[in-house]
Amino acid sequence: MSNADETVRETFLPYALPFIGDGEIAEVVDSLRSGWVTTGPKVKRFEDDFAEYIGAKYVIAVNSCTAGLHIALTALGISPGDEVIIPTLTFCSTANVVVHLGARPVLVDVGEDFNVTPQAIEDAITPRTKAIVPVHYGGQACDLDAIYALAGDYHLPVVEDAAHAVGATYHGRKIGSDALLGRTSDRQRVAVFSFYATKNMTTGEGGMITTADGALAERMRLLSLHGMSRDAWKRYTSSGTWYYEVIMPGYKDNMTDIQAALGIHQLRRLDEFIRIRQHYAHLYDEHFAGIREVATPVVRPDRSHVYHLYAIRLNLDHLRIDRAEFIEALKAQNIGASVHFIPVHLHPFYREHFGYRKGDLPRAEAIYDQIVSLPLYPRMTEADAHDVIKTVRKIVAQHQTPSEGRGYWVDPGETDTHEAPSEQRNVEF
Ligand SMILES: Cc1ncc(COP(=O)(O)O)c(C=O)c1O
Repeated sequence: MSNADETVRETFLPYALPFIGDGEIAEVVDSLRSGWVTTGPKVKRFEDDFAEYIGAKYVIAVNSCTAGLHIALTALGISPGDEVIIPTLTFCSTANVVVHLGARPVLVDVGEDFNVTPQAIEDAITPRTKAIVPVHYGGQACDLDAIYALAGDYHLPVVEDAAHAVGATYHGRKIGSDALLGRTSDRQRVAVFSFYATKNMTTGEGGMITTADGALAERMRLLSLHGMSRDAWKRYTSSGTWYYEVIMPGYKDNMTDIQAALGIHQLRRLDEFIRIRQHYAHLYDEHFAGIREVATPVVRPDRSHVYHLYAIRLNLDHLRIDRAEFIEALKAQNIGASVHFIPVHLHPFYREHFGYRKGDLPRAEAIYDQIVSLPLYPRMTEADAHDVIKTVRKIVAQHQTPSEGRGYWVDPGETDTHEAPSEQRNVEF
């Protein structure tokens, strides 16, 4: 076997893995033994700890970020005929929850940092617009000052999809904190975090809503558990009573103590997790710098990136394989990868029901053709990160188009000359 055919790794490196420690396991066992397996004192403790970590007055634990986004938009009164502005480069649930409310998700384009641009939001505002839902892509904050200013000018609430952004900061303030959400008198601002298995901290499934608006928080709390005026754990403790009233037809979106048991310990480790993610991200940045075929994430100076995702962008003008083939090549070398995201407007449901077409949001579409999310998580070792680097370099070397003066072109035996499809070429970097 030639050097070029040998895999860099013998074992498969998954794209993502949670990092569960003994503390989490012991806490879950304690919940199981205690009898509090659904919403109970540990959810309360997790909420208190989270509120302190983020610097948020009101926090509501829920069973997913999707549920939290749905609750927030419901509490804000989004209803049929309304429009909600959302970047197209996001997970489908950001838009699905708008559809559940009978409203129209107005999908808009993103910028070079993969975040929605304030201009795209402003261009999409109509008299029917009732909310803006920016997504902090990959763990880097959007241009919040500009987005909040727009929201103020047009009197629109902002529901931040912070699924990726727990611990991230904008101008030194944590996403979801009162310092950001409660900075003006117009306080209809909400952030929603995800604790899904691959996220920077996990509760298996889970999410958290934060806001600085007490009345909105109360509505969201009611909506998270049947619209009942008292939640179950207060009813069944010795200080509670059996009586409750249904104030509104709520949902069953509460977090369980088993999830919170994980969350309490994951939160304590979050800053360390972020530090490791940032360290590996910087390693990738350093080693991919100067490789013409690979663009590293665009990082803004006035915010801290917590690298839930590390998405490289392939320069397909200089490669003879497309993005899907690049991912296959990574897999063949025992490296897992993924794509974040298939733009929402390209999914069949959104095309058929809202009339979106390929070509509508060209920047996100170009990005989609080029992006590859590489493994990046604290359970990886530094050696794993170097395997990823070596493998990316190797695939690039095997499939790059020849050019003058390249230092790392290493496979003179390569004869395949097929070209990338024309629509994937000539993309700006
Ligand atoms: C941007 C974004 N929003 C929302 C979600 C939904 O999160 P959850 O799985 O907690 O409902 C995800 C999950 O992957 C996401 O990436």
